[in-house]
Amino acid sequence: MRKPVIAGNWKMHMTCAEARSYMATFLPLIENTSDDRHLVIAPPFTAISTVAEIVRNTSLEISSQNVHWEDQGAYTAEVSPTMLLEHKVRYAIVGHSEPRKYFSESDEQINRRAISAQRHGLIPIVCVGETDEQRERGEAERVIRRQVEQGLEGTSCENLVVAYEPIWAIGTGKTCAATEANRICGLIRSWVGSSNLIIQYGGSVKPANIDELMAMSDIDGVLVGGASLDPDSFARIANYNII
Ligand code: PGA
Repeated sequence: MRKPVIAGNWKMHMTCAEARSYMATFLPLIENTSDDRHLVIAPPFTAISTVAEIVRNTSLEISSQNVHWEDQGAYTAEVSPTMLLEHKVRYAIVGHSEPRKYFSESDEQINRRAISAQRHGLIPIVCVGETDEQRERGEAERVIRRQVEQGLEGTSCENLVVAYEPIWAIGTGKTCAATEANRICGLIRSWVGSSNLIIQYGGSVKPANIDELMAMSDIDGVLVGGASLDPDSFARIANYNII
């Protein structure tokens, strides 16, 4: 049985004060959420210890938004797995399309981050997805397959999450049709060859489409950006009902 992972990625939002106020509203709303799903929040690095302290006795788990492959060293602006583990971080997003785009992250770097995360007992959430132009040119499957094969090389299918996030659907309000997202997630599963692999969909997930997405056979959770910034809307997503 694959246990779905519902994750909110706060990106570069939330001071510690804002995170405290968010959690005061959010935590009561997930008090009775079924334990048939994992609930995860990815604060910016500066708010991780504050959030980790607040959620200590709850079911909410913490993710980082990236992780480096070395334990320490001369890597200005990077954060190592051991630094995250000190704050009870459980997941690490790697290969999100924003660092891929703005900082030219390569599949090879993403792969090193994922391997290192697993070696330290963190669960990498490896993001893959095509641009609008790639989809229009009929290259979506080839691009995603390359990202999957290179990004996951040498990783274990246990303690691993893959997030299919079509770039044209991120922050645009344009969700990928649930059936198409499901088809791509199924392809990823067949390329990886593991029926246990957790595969999320991400890209304009919101209260209005969560139930339909979670009803799909190959979608095992969601990675939520914008809609995770509002505690009521992320709580509705966390409390999805299969339709
Ligand atoms: P979005 O972002 O939900 O705002 O589209 C998703 C993501 O970037 O993971």
